[in-house]
Amino acid sequence: MTISHRLLSTAMLVASTTLAMAEGDVQNGEKLYRNCKACHEVRIGTERLVRGGSAGPNLYGVIGRPAAGLEKYKYSPGLIEAREAGLVWTPQNFADFVANPNVFLEEATGLDIRSKMPYALAEGGIDIAAYLTSLSGN
Ligand code: HEC
Repeated sequence: MTISHRLLSTAMLVASTTLAMAEGDVQNGEKLYRNCKACHEVRIGTERLVRGGSAGPNLYGVIGRPAAGLEKYKYSPGLIEAREAGLVWTPQNFADFVANPNVFLEEATGLDIRSKMPYALAEGGIDIAAYLTSLSGN
């Protein structure tokens, strides 16, 4: 591959990533969120926007929030370490985490560490991020 080809494909990759971020599909995200409900609710104070389990943290306003950002939830050491390293959830890193929590935390912290989240969804994290953002208006 010549250098110009390589530059071109890098540019295309950046462009398509930006597009995917801009175009997170709220409706598809709502469908995919069914996979998360068993362990995550979406709640503001006592108002439940989406019913769900409580094994995982409340996902209200998660995009834009520091990782492991809820005082009342008991996070794993890996996620706390990621917060201390400055991790703030964006649609992209949210999608990367959801696609593989253990690998994500290893890369974010540089430690051989696992997440407490026993679930992964390979695709659609960007759409779920868009859906959650639409619920919290951030
Ligand atoms: C079987 C239970 C379970 C399912 C299903 C599940 N999660 Fe989780 N999730 C957890 C647990 C437990 C944690 C806390 C992880 C830790 O502390 O390492 C977590 C943490 C998270 C966090 C970090 C939040 C924060 O406050 O920093 C995000 C984001 C997340 N989950 C998104 C999702 C999404 C999106 C789905 C659906 C695709 C999903 N989870 C499905 C149990 C689950």
